[in-house]
Amino acid sequence: MEPGLLLIPGPVPLPRQVREELAKPAAPHYGDAWVKAHSETGEMMRYIWSAPDAHVFPIAGPGHAALEAIGYTFLRPGDRIVVVSNGFFGDRTHEVLLTHRVKADLVSSAWGSAPDLAALRTALKTPAKAVVVVHNETSTGVTNSLDPIVEAAHAADAFVIVDAVSSLGGLPLPFAKLGIDAGFSASQKCIAAPAGIAPVAVSRSLWESTDPKSVEGWYLNLYTWDRYEREWGDWHPTPTTISSNLFYAFHRALKLLREEGLEARFARHAKVAARLRAGLAELGFKPVGPSAILSNTVGCFTPPPGVDPARLVRRLKDEHDIYISGGLGPLRGKTIRVGTMGTQADPESIDWLLKAVRASV
Ligand SMILES: Cc1ncc(COP(=O)(O)O)c(C=O)c1O
Repeated sequence: MEPGLLLIPGPVPLPRQVREELAKPAAPHYGDAWVKAHSETGEMMRYIWSAPDAHVFPIAGPGHAALEAIGYTFLRPGDRIVVVSNGFFGDRTHEVLLTHRVKADLVSSAWGSAPDLAALRTALKTPAKAVVVVHNETSTGVTNSLDPIVEAAHAADAFVIVDAVSSLGGLPLPFAKLGIDAGFSASQKCIAAPAGIAPVAVSRSLWESTDPKSVEGWYLNLYTWDRYEREWGDWHPTPTTISSNLFYAFHRALKLLREEGLEARFARHAKVAARLRAGLAELGFKPVGPSAILSNTVGCFTPPPGVDPARLVRRLKDEHDIYISGGLGPLRGKTIRVGTMGTQADPESIDWLLKAVRASV
């Protein structure tokens, strides 16, 4: 049975044109049509990252695969890095990169609050190779301002890795203008494609300052992806078999995004998120973060006294066919989370949800 209204913080409902790509017969993962779609996908990824000069890769895998690809390609065992965390995904990034045998120091602040910039600056007094930060913390519905983090990192000669999983294509993220060095996202959020492709962007300076021979591994080595694009680009530009349905669906979703235009898309996300916040505020729900840093792609709210969030999530599903999420980590059993990403950033969907919440509290 298909869910009625999928308002979890990703995956999001797929547009009709994207679903049509998934229903087509399997096609080869090489040849003229593939080369054309691959090249257009590269151009569109540079567009959504606002990074005309970046190296971009459509890594077949979830967002975590792209984090690991960046880790394996640009970090080495023993490197010191600083991970900025104010939520579940910041902590997860730390956990993942620790397994890469780097020395990953954590600069944490309370879930729902902004990153601790003073602690970051102090941590950067000791040399670090990179600073890693989540742009939009999906666990708390907070968007982290990247400018001061990039500035502090670069002032300390560290490069910056940004997790843009729940922001790319939904929130302004001027990769080149901000001077971000490496970023990754995932197809199933603001891009509104099926899960399974992780768009990666790498700045020219980080790319050129790394010795490809120093990178271990093959699939998650971005220089392997680059080599296939350069050497096999006229017929088979990706190193392995990618599901053609998935790839063409991703390509179609990017085309829809480009037709809408980034600015219009950001404005749509902002408008719908404001509608959600206003509607829930009327019902006594409070966002977890302070108003200045609330996310326009994911909302995380504490219900009014007497409303059990887990029960509300269940009732919305059982009685209204609407899927939202509960809290993660310390917010489990205390909050609800609602996605307003891609296709979810639609006023009618939010009105449908608000009506159902009104009937359930
Ligand atoms: C901010 C953030 N980072 C990373 C991830 C992990 O993405 P994936 O499940 O595609 O690996 C998520 C997933 O929700 C996320 O919201």
